[in-house]
Amino acid sequence: MTIDRRSLLSGILGSAVALGFSRVALAASEVERVDDLISRMTIEEKAGQMTCLADAFRPFNPPNPDAGIQDVKRLAQEIRKGRVGCLFNGIGVAGARKAQEMAVNDSRLGIPLIFAGDVIHGLKTIFPVPLGEASCFDPAFVQRTARAMAVEATAAGLHLTFAPMADVARDQRWGRVVEGAGEDVVLTSLLSAARVRGFQTGDLRRNDSLVACPKHFAAYGAVAAGLEYGSVDISDETLRETHLPPFGASFAAGALTTMAAFSEINGVPATADRSLLTDILRGEMGFRGFVFSDYTADEELVAHGFAEDDRDAARLAVLAGVDMSMQSGLYIRYLPELVKSGAVPMATIDVAVRRILYVKAAMGLFDNPWRSLDEKVEATQIATPAHRALAREAAARSVVLLQNDGVLPIDPDRGRKIALIGPFGEDRDNVYGPWAFYGDPGKGVDIASGLRAAMPDSSLLTVVRGSDIRTGIPGGIDAAVKAAGAADVVLLAVGESQDMTGEAQSRTTIEIPAAQQALVDAVAAAGKPIVVLLRHGRALALHDGVANANAVLATWFLGSESGHAIADVVLGKVDPSGKLPVSFPWESGQEPFFYDRKSTGRPVLDNGSTEYKARYATTDNSARYPFGHGLSYTQFALDQLKVADPALRWDGTIEISARLTNKGSRKGAEVVQLYIRDRVASRTRPIRELKRMERVTLDPGRSRTVRFTLSRTDLEFVGADNQRLAEPGLFDVWVGQSSTGGLHTQITLYAAV
Ligand code: NOJ
Repeated sequence: MTIDRRSLLSGILGSAVALGFSRVALAASEVERVDDLISRMTIEEKAGQMTCLADAFRPFNPPNPDAGIQDVKRLAQEIRKGRVGCLFNGIGVAGARKAQEMAVNDSRLGIPLIFAGDVIHGLKTIFPVPLGEASCFDPAFVQRTARAMAVEATAAGLHLTFAPMADVARDQRWGRVVEGAGEDVVLTSLLSAARVRGFQTGDLRRNDSLVACPKHFAAYGAVAAGLEYGSVDISDETLRETHLPPFGASFAAGALTTMAAFSEINGVPATADRSLLTDILRGEMGFRGFVFSDYTADEELVAHGFAEDDRDAARLAVLAGVDMSMQSGLYIRYLPELVKSGAVPMATIDVAVRRILYVKAAMGLFDNPWRSLDEKVEATQIATPAHRALAREAAARSVVLLQNDGVLPIDPDRGRKIALIGPFGEDRDNVYGPWAFYGDPGKGVDIASGLRAAMPDSSLLTVVRGSDIRTGIPGGIDAAVKAAGAADVVLLAVGESQDMTGEAQSRTTIEIPAAQQALVDAVAAAGKPIVVLLRHGRALALHDGVANANAVLATWFLGSESGHAIADVVLGKVDPSGKLPVSFPWESGQEPFFYDRKSTGRPVLDNGSTEYKARYATTDNSARYPFGHGLSYTQFALDQLKVADPALRWDGTIEISARLTNKGSRKGAEVVQLYIRDRVASRTRPIRELKRMERVTLDPGRSRTVRFTLSRTDLEFVGADNQRLAEPGLFDVWVGQSSTGGLHTQITLYAAV
């Protein structure tokens, strides 16, 4: 027997993202085992399987004393009674073994626990934050880093990660932008699916297979005004066109769990939304795994004003389709009585338990509850030199060169004096990023250390803090200006701390904190060449000394190898090749801002006329640096755009090609991007939509022809009645190096005859 997890019907997702069946083989004997267990389980034991609690034996995050079970004796008792199905956010094989022994040897039915954790961008080897890594625009590479993370996580005794975050994030005020792949649907879909494949491999039973949990279902990234935990009010079409596809792609790649979002959609909290969690997720999308609540999100239905009390909240969540309650303990407390009173049918509970036990069976936990619990693997597979090398490569690939007048790269052999100024120059507390709490503090490489290690004469480097992250320091600016004056080139390491991004870190302005801006402006006035090294978890609105610097690099939070990777790029060992997964607007007030916006009836015209046009009175509604933008130290040029035949038949395909040439004198990589625009449709369409991309590495003087194939499904959108459809007619096509400009042509889709 197989669990058929055909996760996304082609009615939801275009062909830019591979669709397909993903199946997990479950032997008939395993299905029988699950059926047999369910027939013997008490309602308390069923509610236990549906309960996930923070691992108080090995707490990592500061525990919330009001939630879960903090008392370790009590937690052990509950596991022995079979009243816990999953522990989360504890790591370490020895501790996991003890807990698993309680479940397997001491509980009546011996059902193994799942050990879950937030491995978002690494366990001990910390990779760039997902938003940073998305800059590589390279699913195959992202799959490799996810694999390395999974090897470390499973070596530490974890079975499941609450990742990838598949939320499309179009408002940079929202702190969780940092956890995903940015503003674009296709990029987020491709990278989320790649992460799932990397975490899980094709074989969930492997000791190093880490079950993925794409989250947060759904449209969490669309919270109004970027306010964390806020409300989402969107059309059914936008939900299906923008926010569901990355989940569909993740399920198609084999993800067996998902997590309901904290937020509400159109007046109904996701955790209690049966239409979302059952009709859409399972009915439309064919999801066959199980659904976690987010942390105490079922209990929060009361604060939402949607449930009368905790009992009602448990009832609403389970009826909506939340199979596993995280941390509130509400299921264990209320499901037995809710079933006895008839408020929740036992059949609903059995379906949820079956889903959970099927996943446990698919992971091989019944046959081997000790999988991923091997001290030898733990001792040898974590923080390996190979992972560290991959983290350095990932970090360098994540850097985006936003502007450069030629000051970069700095030739390390020219003996130039470098002043490294700013709160992040020597800082090790903000190299990992906001979701790396298993990482060992202080083991990441700061920028100064990275530069010193790479410079033939490190005495040429002067480091001055100049300012704290949020406030100035006495004499800081004077010291910085003095150091700048004595240097040949100034590196300014400024931006956000990691606690200004991530969960619950929405900001009203997305700017460099004022104290640091003052530092930059004062140093810039010294007149030396300035290179800004931005540290950030979102797109930023840059001003004055930062915006006018000779060069600006987006360096996000790059993880363990931050300083080495930044030195690699700044000193020219590595050519920057990252592309922006989020648009950098001119001003914070443009948010939410994304490149695939609508034309409006009054677009700003090419002739520059802005009177009574769709723009702000104070700024153009364009981007300072658009989605897909990113420079290199070499120069790439595209030409020879060719379409074999611009007529696309209804069931046909069309090939579009262009030649990329490296016209500079260095080897480099470019991401060639293909965008379309549907000229006229029954729903207004965005001014551009990314459909294809390919990363190409070329030696100087070399060319390569890049070929893209499109079919009708690439031209589809969600129209009336939430149906995905393509309409015959004219389409613009651009092949370019970002979401603006590029070579242009047109194709026509013809109706079936
Ligand atoms: C809350 C976050 O929203 C979610 O992303 C995370 O996985 C859980 N906490 C568990 O730590």
